[in-house]
Amino acid sequence: MSIHIASTTAPVNIATLKYWGKRDTALNLPTNSSISVTLAQDDLRTLTTAATSEEFPEDKLWLNGKEESLQNPRTQSCLKDLRDLRKQLEEADPSLPPFSKWKLHIVSENNFPTAAGLASSAAGFAALIMSIAKLYKLPQDASELSKIARKGSGSACRSLFGGYVAWEMGSNTDGSDSKAVQIADVDHWPDIKAIVLVVSADKKDTPSTSGMQATVATSELFQHRIHNVVPKRFQEMKTAILNKDFAAFADLTMKDSNSFHATCLDSYPPIFYMNDTSRKIVKLCHEINQFYNETIVAYTYDAGPNAVLYYLKENEDKLFTILYKIFGNNSGWESKLTPQKQNFLIEQYNEIKSQLDDNISKMVDAGLNEYITRVILTKVGAGPQETSESLINDLTGLPIVE
Ligand code: DP6
Repeated sequence: MSIHIASTTAPVNIATLKYWGKRDTALNLPTNSSISVTLAQDDLRTLTTAATSEEFPEDKLWLNGKEESLQNPRTQSCLKDLRDLRKQLEEADPSLPPFSKWKLHIVSENNFPTAAGLASSAAGFAALIMSIAKLYKLPQDASELSKIARKGSGSACRSLFGGYVAWEMGSNTDGSDSKAVQIADVDHWPDIKAIVLVVSADKKDTPSTSGMQATVATSELFQHRIHNVVPKRFQEMKTAILNKDFAAFADLTMKDSNSFHATCLDSYPPIFYMNDTSRKIVKLCHEINQFYNETIVAYTYDAGPNAVLYYLKENEDKLFTILYKIFGNNSGWESKLTPQKQNFLIEQYNEIKSQLDDNISKMVDAGLNEYITRVILTKVGAGPQETSESLINDLTGLPIVE
């Protein structure tokens, strides 16, 4: 059997200016522009291998070792767009093999457990689009391809770039100008680091697609957000990133997370993504910034209770002196901090302990770690990468089973 194969990895991104609301649900066109930071793939990434062969009888997909249906309309729409682009190439050059007519096998794996509770659809769709674009040798650039990823899942369009990324909402009804662009690459401001506090949740949250539709339909505050708040913040956040102004970046990030969750609360019936633990972490971050008399940490929350904290490398010791005291027993530190570093943080905490005011001391002793399942220490990272690592056997066209 003659099989053609390509593999790509793609990153997770976490918005600092949130996408929430669609003006067109079929094309996934947003009601506002958004901005995100791409996270390093060493810690969080999806690897996808796409293969095509004249002899494959049907399109097939395997996700994290399990065969899944390809029948959802969003995936179908992505595959159709990619095949249409390939068809144009084949029409221009009839010597090309007719991949656009052949079926696909797609195998995809995350390097983080699904149980981590991190939305993986952005990395998943980004890796799907990029691996097939590679396989089809499409000439389109990442911004063009981001329009296809957008149709899979809105936030996925931003995972087509590394560093700092904007999704420009556009105004065309066909979505032709609703795409991701890079604000700055990872090397422009490589010192942004992130810690994800994975918060235990007892029930499944409202999926973001239906949650945002409920907000669009019922929240008046949402109208204020998209017309008056986000447009200004979009410019300010871009400037903060270009100027590497952490204090401005952090303030905007925290305010925007709060604004997005306020529109969820203002939806009717209300939607709650953050829980008590999430809210305690918000307070803790403000206490930490106040204690150091400087904005050294910013929190942000997506459609779930997990906290993502952004900070600068140069402030890591200050921040971890307090965070390690609280969350040191949670798993995730071992692979990143040497035992010497862990001891140093404990000593540092003992030194500052007497200077902490009551509010923060109480938070430190409140047993917050019991509600956290793990921590993930990571940083800003690069965009999708082509890789020689393959998940498909090139003789059988089936997933490689380990
Ligand atoms: C809160 O991209 O998951 O994470 O387009 O319906 O697939 P769909 O939604 P999705 O929504 C993400 C919402 C968010 C904010 C963000 O990432 O900007």
